[in-house]
Amino acid sequence: MIILGIDTSCDDTSAGVVVGGTRVLSNVVQSQVKLHHPFGGVVPELASREHLKNIMPVVRTALQKADVRMSDLDGIAVTVGPGLVGSLLVGLYYAKGLSYVHDIPLAAINHLEGHILSVFLEEEIPSFPFVALTVSGGHTSLYHVKGYGSYTQMGQTIDDAAGEAFDKVAKIFGLGYPGGAVIEKLAREGRSDIIKFPRAYLSKDSLDFSFSGLKTSVSLYTKKWREIRIEKDGVALADIAASFQESVVDVLIHKLMKAREEKGVEEVVVAGGVACNRRLRSRLSKDASSEDVRVYYPRPEYCTDNGAMIAAAGYHRLFQGEKADLSMDVRSKYPVSDLLPLVPKP
Ligand code: KG4
Ligand code: ZN
Repeated sequence: MIILGIDTSCDDTSAGVVVGGTRVLSNVVQSQVKLHHPFGGVVPELASREHLKNIMPVVRTALQKADVRMSDLDGIAVTVGPGLVGSLLVGLYYAKGLSYVHDIPLAAINHLEGHILSVFLEEEIPSFPFVALTVSGGHTSLYHVKGYGSYTQMGQTIDDAAGEAFDKVAKIFGLGYPGGAVIEKLAREGRSDIIKFPRAYLSKDSLDFSFSGLKTSVSLYTKKWREIRIEKDGVALADIAASFQESVVDVLIHKLMKAREEKGVEEVVVAGGVACNRRLRSRLSKDASSEDVRVYYPRPEYCTDNGAMIAAAGYHRLFQGEKADLSMDVRSKYPVSDLLPLVPKP
């Protein structure tokens, strides 16, 4: 089954062509980073307009790179939520048009299911059940994944997402949007144990996250640092970045390992934009190997928003015979636990 996947949930216009839910023939992403950079975050109105401009060339390029024609496709999968409504509408209506004109079945995909299944685009794949941490600009959640389509949420952020914290700290530092990669780069030059920023573990058994207190703490520290020049005492901006990053990484790893232990599984998956973070990967790999836990990550291009992961999710839904109606609408909020479990393929 050859599936075209389309994602326009936030600020990337993306399309990918995937065979059998695993083999990527193409994955094209048109980023809007330059457009939103001066504003320190995504401007929804601008994002929708940009998606309108980019959607046709992005889909065309994805098909060309995959060397497939519309008539070769067995299905079109499109993200219907969660995300920015104006952005989602562009992808959905474009996909509906293609589906109608070319008479190709359409699958309505939950963006978070796409992130969870993005790891199946790799050679090394986990086996069910496992615990997944999806950590991006819009989400930080833990799921017990029992099979395709079967996701039980174990925890989530009660305020900011981890990626959002990176983006906000980059804004405080005057480094623009998005912040993850720049903070990571800056942190490489810094000392992670120099400032003790708070770690919000919340209550003892909680698997929820909170990053807004950390962000405020970094903001106050940086303000003071700028005013009284703590750097005279040897603290550099890179030290603040490294100490901030360490706090996020500590909490993410602690909660992920706790969730794993609770469910008694030996495999964990980390996906979403923040899963690109090398400090997170190296610390987690070390902790996991000491506990005999296997960790699976998608490669960076499948961690950030992409069409291939949506095609992968679409494959399983269409294989099951789940076909979306042309009257369906987008959903700005769309818990992944609302999804119907899928029967494993023979
Ligand atoms: O998955 P994604 O592309 O979009 C959402 O669904 O939100 O994730 C984007 C987020 C941004 O907040 C970005 O700052 C963060 O992922 N990110 C990173 C890194 N690369 C991207 N955060 C930390 N370290 C990175 N290397
Ligand atoms: Zn995402």
